[in-house]
Amino acid sequence: MRTMIVGNPMNLDQLAAGEREDPGQPGPGEIRVKVQGSSLNFHDLGVVTGRMGEASGRIPLADGAGTVEAIGADVSEFAVGDMVVSCFFPDWQDGTPTVGDFSRTPGDGIDGFARDAVVLPATAFTRAPKGYDAVEAATITTAGLTAWRALVVDGKLKAGDTVLLLGTGGVSIWALQIAKMMGAVVAITSSSDEKLARAKALGADFCLNYGTTPGWGKAIADWTGGRGVDHVVEVGGPGTLAQSIEAVRVGGHISLIGVLTGGAGEVPTAALMSRQARLQGLIVGSRREQQEFVRALDASGIRPVVDRRFPLEQLAEAFRYETSGGHFGKIGIEV
Ligand SMILES: NC(=O)c1ccc[n+]([C@@H]2O[C@H](COP(=O)([O-])OP(=O)(O)OC[C@H]3O[C@@H](n4cnc5c(N)ncnc54)[C@H](OP(=O)(O)O)[C@@H]3O)[C@@H](O)[C@H]2O)c1
Repeated sequence: MRTMIVGNPMNLDQLAAGEREDPGQPGPGEIRVKVQGSSLNFHDLGVVTGRMGEASGRIPLADGAGTVEAIGADVSEFAVGDMVVSCFFPDWQDGTPTVGDFSRTPGDGIDGFARDAVVLPATAFTRAPKGYDAVEAATITTAGLTAWRALVVDGKLKAGDTVLLLGTGGVSIWALQIAKMMGAVVAITSSSDEKLARAKALGADFCLNYGTTPGWGKAIADWTGGRGVDHVVEVGGPGTLAQSIEAVRVGGHISLIGVLTGGAGEVPTAALMSRQARLQGLIVGSRREQQEFVRALDASGIRPVVDRRFPLEQLAEAFRYETSGGHFGKIGIEV
């Protein structure tokens, strides 16, 4: 079976093709999936370059989608031929969060989807959204579900709410599409005017270049008439949080999701307190939330923005493209 394998030392030059034994036939409760698509996340880049810790020899990529080739005994949810998509936390099925690390996340603590086929418990997958190809379906595992949980599950987003999104990467563009699907009003920032024009074409209501407007928090609050936004999907971390607090309304919600500017830093706690804002850390979501997200996508018909697709063998090239920051939305991998 073809795979890609994280090298030693862990860097993109050492990320190489390899062979592993075929996973064989599914046992009770398992399914065999022909992997056909994946997509890249900032997290995956961290795994293959060693930022997430020791991963030499690991098969990378958290996102995986493809066709069910065989089902084991006691599997009734899926049939041969179904298109399925993987879960970021295969053991977190439902309810409040049960995991706080990546030890059981495919492509990090356990082998991921940069390979031809997997045999896993059926509960590690959900049905894919109707009409999606495998690459499109794979984008919901990490980026899509994170955006859905931040805005809809935990944010309780409703029509007319205002939303602030930072940058135009995978999570933020999924969040833009979800927010517009739900009838929200959206502001988005980017370092590129060209990308902002693309965001506008997708429905963004207010676009702002964070490179040329360093005090963008106040600019966003001004855009709301001084009230502040209801929701922020905070993918930046310590370098952007102060501005996000400036932008949020009294009683608003900030989903702390990303580490694009680092993993630790100062928080203006008095400003946060005076906003009476809810600052919530979150990591992706449960299988139940993914099933609900898929239902919403079936009903809405929206499709993810896949900027470029690379064949599995060019995985290192795909990560170099992500590192360049040239992408808008998701980068797809065809397996
Ligand atoms: N907690 C979770 O569950 C979860 C899930 C998924 C991702 N994440 C995290 O969320 C972050 C985004 O992930 P991703 O996969 O969407 O990454 P990505 O697709 O690689 O997005 C990168 C984009 O972020 C924007 N960006 C970079 N620095 C920025 C800054 N200082 N201010 C505003 N925007 C900035 C840039 O947009 P422009 O080019 O438009 O400037 C860049 O293209 C990462 O830190 C990732 O680890 C967390």
